[in-house]
Amino acid sequence: MLAAVGSAVGLGNIWKFPYITGEYGGGAFVLVYLITVMLVGFSVMIAEMLIGYLGRRDCVANFETLAPRHKERWKYAGWMGLTGSLVMIYYSVVIGWIFHYIMVAITQLPATVEQAETVFGAMLTQHIGTQLFYHTIAFLITTAVVAKGIKGGIEKFNMVLIPALMGILAVMFVYATTLDGFSQAVGYMFTPDWSKLDSEAFVNAVGHAFFTLSLGMGAIMIYSASLPKEGSLVKSSLFVIAGDTIIALVAGLVLFTFLFQYGSEPGKGPGLVFISLPAVFYEMGAIGNVFSVLFFLGLAFAGLTSAVSLVEPMVQYLIDKFDMSRLKAAVTMGLFFYLLGIVAILSQIEWSAPYLTWGGKNFFDWADYMTSSVLLPIAGLVMAVFVGYVIEKERVASVLKPQMGWFFPVWYFSLRYIAPVALVIVMLNLMGVIVF
Ligand code: PHE
Repeated sequence: MLAAVGSAVGLGNIWKFPYITGEYGGGAFVLVYLITVMLVGFSVMIAEMLIGYLGRRDCVANFETLAPRHKERWKYAGWMGLTGSLVMIYYSVVIGWIFHYIMVAITQLPATVEQAETVFGAMLTQHIGTQLFYHTIAFLITTAVVAKGIKGGIEKFNMVLIPALMGILAVMFVYATTLDGFSQAVGYMFTPDWSKLDSEAFVNAVGHAFFTLSLGMGAIMIYSASLPKEGSLVKSSLFVIAGDTIIALVAGLVLFTFLFQYGSEPGKGPGLVFISLPAVFYEMGAIGNVFSVLFFLGLAFAGLTSAVSLVEPMVQYLIDKFDMSRLKAAVTMGLFFYLLGIVAILSQIEWSAPYLTWGGKNFFDWADYMTSSVLLPIAGLVMAVFVGYVIEKERVASVLKPQMGWFFPVWYFSLRYIAPVALVIVMLNLMGVIVF
């Protein structure tokens, strides 16, 4: 369960959630995101957990063993799930930026937003060495932890980093509540401005719900495969969802409070925590210096515990399928993502970017878009359909009815109808068929 919380709570909560909330104008987006998490996220998470819990193997083998018919064909569904790991291509690069920013916070914070923009822009488009160096560290840490396995590596790692992250956020949150900007932040996040909510915002809210809950890529599935037989899938999923949502909301409130307090803008895009925030920390004086170091440390912790879960499903697959040793599998997958990460870095560097940009998006942006908006939701849909329509209802009910009681039909309905419809709308929207 701890491993699953570590997976869910990541850059998605602290880096992405605040900036996409900023891009789509605050409250309305938050509301759609919360509704999606409860309706779609909850049903699909239980479905994904159930596949792992019943199958007890890697993502591909689980589909093969659980499908009552056409076992051969269902393995493609498992592969579909594994493609979500491609998130790691850019994830490790962003963890690298965070490492760099821990150093920036320790040595010299930029004094103004303009300066901060120059520092971030230079790192992104010119300083290939800096990015490579820190990306390499992120790769080494992730690979080392995964090589030690779920119980021996990932769980122990999370046992230290997650409480540390929570402690850091709690201190900053308490401080934020003493500032005037806090009430503005609450208003911004919880007063919906419907005019900003178009289909793009809706698609992003659904995509983000999947991303932040680590759904649709086998991470949650793999972790549930090691859940004890008497463990409750419902309690586990509620625990993960509650933990993930609370951390996203707290992180959002803290960041927006600081930004509003110092007259900064929330809608700064992916650079929000790397541009507006460092300048705000500078203005806060001594406490800002301490907070900035703590903040980037916490962000790195959140990122690392998710990164290991991005690599683990593929590693598990290599071990199961090809009898590879864990070390060899971890190094193979680590290197695979490491090299693609270098392409992601190059795709933002001034001189190489033109060669790695297609249709207005560079490789880095494509990796993000394809995974969060396309692959994770499609794999989520496949998992929902698999549990809702393919595995026999009696088998599903025999595990979940005792845990859910009267709620079972509600969940089953939502899995069979609400989640697929929401996901199909997302897909049709992506294809340009439905735009609202
Ligand atoms: N949930 C993680 C986050 O919010 C990202 C992630 C996605 C991790 C998919 C694993 C699988 O940052």
